[in-house]
Amino acid sequence: MKTRHCKALCVAVAALFAQGAMADTTLHVYVGGANRPDLMRKMFDQFEQKTPGVKVVIESGGSTSELQRAYLSTVLSARDSSLDVMMIDIVNPAQYMHAQWIEPLDKYLGSDATTIMKSYMPAYAKASVVDGKITSLPAYADAQFMYYRKDLLAKYHLPEPKTWDQLASEAKTVLAGERDASLQGLSIQGAPIEGAVCTFLTPYWSQGKDLIDASGRLTLDKPAAEKGMNMWLNLVDQGVVKKNVAEVKTQDTTTDFRSGKALFAVSWGMVWSHFQEPDSAVKDKVGIMPIPAMAGGSTDTCAGGWQWAVSAYSTHKKEAVALVRWMATPEVSKFLAVKAAMMPANPGVFQDEAVLQSAPWFTSAKPVLESARARPVSDRYGEISDTVRTATSAMLGRAVTVPDGIDAMAARLRRVMR
Ligand code: GLC
Repeated sequence: MKTRHCKALCVAVAALFAQGAMADTTLHVYVGGANRPDLMRKMFDQFEQKTPGVKVVIESGGSTSELQRAYLSTVLSARDSSLDVMMIDIVNPAQYMHAQWIEPLDKYLGSDATTIMKSYMPAYAKASVVDGKITSLPAYADAQFMYYRKDLLAKYHLPEPKTWDQLASEAKTVLAGERDASLQGLSIQGAPIEGAVCTFLTPYWSQGKDLIDASGRLTLDKPAAEKGMNMWLNLVDQGVVKKNVAEVKTQDTTTDFRSGKALFAVSWGMVWSHFQEPDSAVKDKVGIMPIPAMAGGSTDTCAGGWQWAVSAYSTHKKEAVALVRWMATPEVSKFLAVKAAMMPANPGVFQDEAVLQSAPWFTSAKPVLESARARPVSDRYGEISDTVRTATSAMLGRAVTVPDGIDAMAARLRRVMR
């Protein structure tokens, strides 16, 4: 796929090499364990071939978003120059930029910046820019979806549920019919992990509410927040969601659904590929649909994704930017989409035949991605996330009542966002 983006990149890489800037450079690139370092390695190998004199070494640490944030915060606040490039969760650019941990890319991209940014879906281009500066480029796009067992809904002649109430009623029908003690109705993430921020936000957003306004002020609506949490607890009480929901992490949802132990599962886009693996019990039985709404509410989902950023402390910034540019091209995006259902941030890649063949549901995923909502964009995001996910988990585990949990969440958020 020859694009202007690639041509410009190739010229930039060639120019750097001609200046001798890339002789014997080793780039240390941070890629978290869940972000398929095996596939990233293949793309780094291609970059090494294109840019003689540059070696890429993968560094890892922390397998989940919040653990990675903790790891990178430690490394970067120590002004450690051992990392050149980092793959960061889309929730982090604002915080890292304000802390001056990442190098703005504008001056390196120069006159190519506009073309490059226009090649991404508007939401991803927007998420890459903080205070008018390009913080990072998209590695892949993501959102939460509802996975479901196509075969079981078909067996009981049930449609895709549009609301949580409908999902509860369908789940009860299937569970009663199947009489399989290992089958759960719905798996969601209630452990105090990054994903639990979305567990809180989706039913809250669905009631037309937002957590912060355009100027970054807290707008937590207590009745809506309580209603959203009560909706989840109601699903637990009806036997649709497991009682231990406060311990469930993303990987548990994947494992349960993949082994045929869940009828519905809320999860991110790339787990699709895990469900299609040859040893998956649900291969070819998986449907994917938007997240249901609260009764009378809108269908909302959490936007996700990962970005490539250059460390402000890197001593090889030009080479690091060249790698980031390569990793954010349609070529790499297509490879990741075909191999691992990592969704492209580049709209053109969605139309690619090979991509659609490997993940036919991408056609319906694109509008979902385009309307997905961002978690709060803030330089204090780490603390906001920590507050929301720990309170959500405590309420789901019934360690606190819903009113007390929301009050505590609001009080802490007010302190953080003051
Ligand atoms: C996915 C999303 C990311 C999100 C994370 C939570 O990796 O892409 O944005 O924060 O899941 O676990």
